[in-house]
Amino acid sequence: MNIIGIDLGTSTTEAAIYRGGKKELILNPDGSAITPSAVGLDESGNWVVGERARAHYMMLPENTAIEVKRKTGTDETIELGHTRYSPIELQSRLLSYVRAYASEYLGESVDHAVISVPAYFNDIQRRETIRAGELAGFTVERILNEPTAAALSYGLEHLEEESHVLVYDLGGGTFDVTLLEMFDGVLEVKASGGDNQLGGKDFDELLMEYLLKRFQDKHRINLRKDKRAMARIKDEAEKCKIALSERDSCHILIPAICVQDGVPVELDETVTREQFEALTRALLQRTHKPLDTVLSDAGISENEIDHVILVGGSTRMPMVARDVFDYLGKEPHHAVHPEYAVAEGAAVQAGIISGEIDPADGLIMTDVNPYTLGVRAFDGEDDDHMSVVIPRNVTIPVTRTERYATCSDYQTEVIVEVYQGKSRIATHNHQLGKFSIHEVPPRPAGTEKLDISFSYDLNGLLKVSAILLSTGTEKGIEIDMTKGPEKKRDLSIWKNAEGAKAYRTLIRTSERLLSGNEPIPQELCVSLQEALDKLKTALIDGGDAEAAGELLRKIISDVREAL
Ligand SMILES: Nc1ncnc2c1ncn2[C@@H]1O[C@H](COP(=O)(O)OP(=O)(O)OP(=O)(O)O)[C@@H](O)[C@H]1O
Ligand SMILES: [Mg+2]
Repeated sequence: MNIIGIDLGTSTTEAAIYRGGKKELILNPDGSAITPSAVGLDESGNWVVGERARAHYMMLPENTAIEVKRKTGTDETIELGHTRYSPIELQSRLLSYVRAYASEYLGESVDHAVISVPAYFNDIQRRETIRAGELAGFTVERILNEPTAAALSYGLEHLEEESHVLVYDLGGGTFDVTLLEMFDGVLEVKASGGDNQLGGKDFDELLMEYLLKRFQDKHRINLRKDKRAMARIKDEAEKCKIALSERDSCHILIPAICVQDGVPVELDETVTREQFEALTRALLQRTHKPLDTVLSDAGISENEIDHVILVGGSTRMPMVARDVFDYLGKEPHHAVHPEYAVAEGAAVQAGIISGEIDPADGLIMTDVNPYTLGVRAFDGEDDDHMSVVIPRNVTIPVTRTERYATCSDYQTEVIVEVYQGKSRIATHNHQLGKFSIHEVPPRPAGTEKLDISFSYDLNGLLKVSAILLSTGTEKGIEIDMTKGPEKKRDLSIWKNAEGAKAYRTLIRTSERLLSGNEPIPQELCVSLQEALDKLKTALIDGGDAEAAGELLRKIISDVREAL
């Protein structure tokens, strides 16, 4: 059985396999190991993926999606042509393409994969990645954290070493940092952290913003609404950034970027490395906090780090190595090939699963959960307290149990709400699911006891169960990766609810606004959807519809103001 490893990146995607005793990169039809993570529709409405889609982006930006990974786990959709697609669907197109070229390359159908994700991906983002893999026809054998994968690739070649290794991965869209301890072929992840909204893309955007502003100052023309011009500037900004990794200055010339009074206008600008670094310094500073957190979670000081390995295309910017040196006091070194390390590590993991790598050869790996997991509980004062069951950076797989008691007299139901996140206020975190236990014997507060257990597996997926001690009633939820995200509650039945009539116009107005015909800013779109769901829920459950309606009205007026 062939299992391939896939690094499904924000900017680029790579696949590799472990066979014949070594890691091997899988080449795409263009003969390259690197496939741009771009998906689009051509003029005749056919799907195009990879290099062709990226080329299309310049001509048909409205029909091409790039950097979709950033949207994984959100409700955001991406418009191509005149249809909207979910991130899962587009990611699955990309994975189908990988599956097709891997099958071609290996000469047999490839149906199994290990897919890597940023360590900092949450449960929903992991599940969506699995779902995208399944839609592409893969059985997803394992979800592996990217920096762990990079370390695995490194570890395989340095089995005899005894050391602390810090993997610093700055890619196209995410920043991940992981601290590992290696000894005797055991690779133990001590802590993981990062920022899944920080990567090369953000450097490009700051440079773009600079170019747009300079252009506006010179020509009094705002190009921000011109999709085609923006696509060309983005492309040039990225090329310039990459050139500045080698050179001290770079000249950008885009002829006929737009036309003014019938005359073509060009964008002509020279950017020096010094200017670029000054422009983006704040982004690099954002890497410091995750570095501190990981070191302190691992209980290790800077001078105990033996190696710092740089992974991800963005670490080719000279200022990255400099910043790491200044901050950690340790000279980092680049992974053999920063773009391949993650895919190769995923292939090593695939090799361990398929048996291609003999466990007797050494190399055992343990990983950690990057997020704090817990339930909402009453702590004596506050009923929105995040009670931690599994703290972040605990070695996985892990099972932990905590005991709770009823908090009001004669309550007959207990609701278990499961959250992921670092806030001490439960509802400020990310809700993963909830369930309730009924038929609790009505007794004074604190008498009925409940054991809640969390099990976190190697994919970073969670199982939660609760058992009522007095009756032995047990219930739980499995955040089941094979079934995809939990089904949302059907709110369309609000129409039959009592009092629905008074809110009909309000609800219809909101739905029209959300239908996507008007460009509502993203944050408002999210608040509008939430307020709308809240009102419908209140109507169905007989809750406070008046308050929910009031909130919705306020958001609608904000939306109108923004339009
Ligand atoms: N020589 C270079 N100098 C600066 N940046 C570079 C260079 N080469 C590549 N990059 C940047 O690296 C990024 C892509 O790196 P990589 O392929 O490791 O990311 P990814 O795996 O797609 O993203 P992620 O891991 O964040 O999901 C892009 O932003 C690209 O512009
Ligand atoms: Mg990457």
